Amino acid sequence: MAVASDRLKALPAYLFAEIDRKKRAALAAGRDVIDFGVGDPDQPTHGFIIDRMAAAIRKPENHTYPLGGGTPAFRRQIAAFFRQRYGVELDPSRELLALIGSKEGIGHLPLAVVNPGQAVLVPSPGYPVYLAGTVFAGGQPYVMELTEAGGWLPDLERIPAEVARNAALMFLNYPNNPTGAVATLEFYERAVAFAKRYNLLIAQDAAYNELYLTDQRPPSILQAPGAREVAIEFHSASKTFNMTGWRIGFAAGNAEALSALAATKANLDSGAFAAVQEAACDAYANIDRPELHRMRELYRGRARILCEGLAKLGFAARPPLATFYVWAGVPAGYDSMTVCNRLLDEASVVGVPGIGFGPTGEGYVRFALNVAAERIQAALQRMAAIRW
Ligand SMILES: Cc1ncc(COP(=O)(O)O)c(C=O)c1O
Repeated sequence: MAVASDRLKALPAYLFAEIDRKKRAALAAGRDVIDFGVGDPDQPTHGFIIDRMAAAIRKPENHTYPLGGGTPAFRRQIAAFFRQRYGVELDPSRELLALIGSKEGIGHLPLAVVNPGQAVLVPSPGYPVYLAGTVFAGGQPYVMELTEAGGWLPDLERIPAEVARNAALMFLNYPNNPTGAVATLEFYERAVAFAKRYNLLIAQDAAYNELYLTDQRPPSILQAPGAREVAIEFHSASKTFNMTGWRIGFAAGNAEALSALAATKANLDSGAFAAVQEAACDAYANIDRPELHRMRELYRGRARILCEGLAKLGFAARPPLATFYVWAGVPAGYDSMTVCNRLLDEASVVGVPGIGFGPTGEGYVRFALNVAAERIQAALQRMAAIRW
């Protein structure tokens, strides 16, 4: 019996499968694998959040189905965070929506706002869920190629007018996974003007907005004048507070789009655990705590060690402006899959081949900085033995 749907089969091949298989085989063989593959913090959730969760989980009122769009307290706290961080005033009941992690909202959004056959503008290289959500909804992905020369920003002028006119949605992601690039407010203003011209919705994925590694804090697209008429922004507690397993995030901005997303979700899920929302309130109320500064310092130090080491080995690597990813150009004459295979075979080091993020990711390897400094040094030592 063939059970997989055509939509599932229409997803691009999982290009990390080969590396994944090899990694599992290496681990099973007892090899000491140093894994820069997964974008999942190696540090525990900050203690003050765990303390709040311990109390929240004992409250019976948190044990029932949570309110679909988020508890009033969660929405109020996120509105306060947005005011403090970005100077943007949001209506907690209409312009905010709690999510079971931002991936959930991103994946469901096309079902809420895209009709079959409409175009969705998707960045490449990019987080694979933009494409998957589009394909599941029957949308037509149009790839916006990001290049190093273009600062890893899409060239909006190069999108053909007939594609833009047929587009319902454009995904953006800054700070960017996998490249670590950051967008300026000026870019967001141009994107908002583009969306207004073509009457489409922007979904800007700000999952890494709090992982800034310079003293320039990334803006929110909602700071651009008129943005809430055409844009929503996804945020996540996952990387900000080392809470990937807790599954909590939110979307902010255009009320009509959020209402459509909320209605879609109401048919598919029953909201984020209220105790988690309560703990996340404490997290967002304490966005400037020293723990968070120390976390950025940790990633900054790791990025420095890794990039200096990689540069000596023939990779083109610069510390990211934000995110915990180093996006390194591979040694001349090699493709990203060959490089990752050799790193694993010859040094037991896992990196993600750039081709897995789309064709324009070719020539790069992504290293996630979720590895302790000593282990990064050990990985570099092993990699030094590879002759390119
Ligand atoms: C760019 C980007 N957006 C969203 C997510 C999803 O994060 P979460 O669902 O944990 O909020 C990730 C996770 O890796 C990501 O890299």
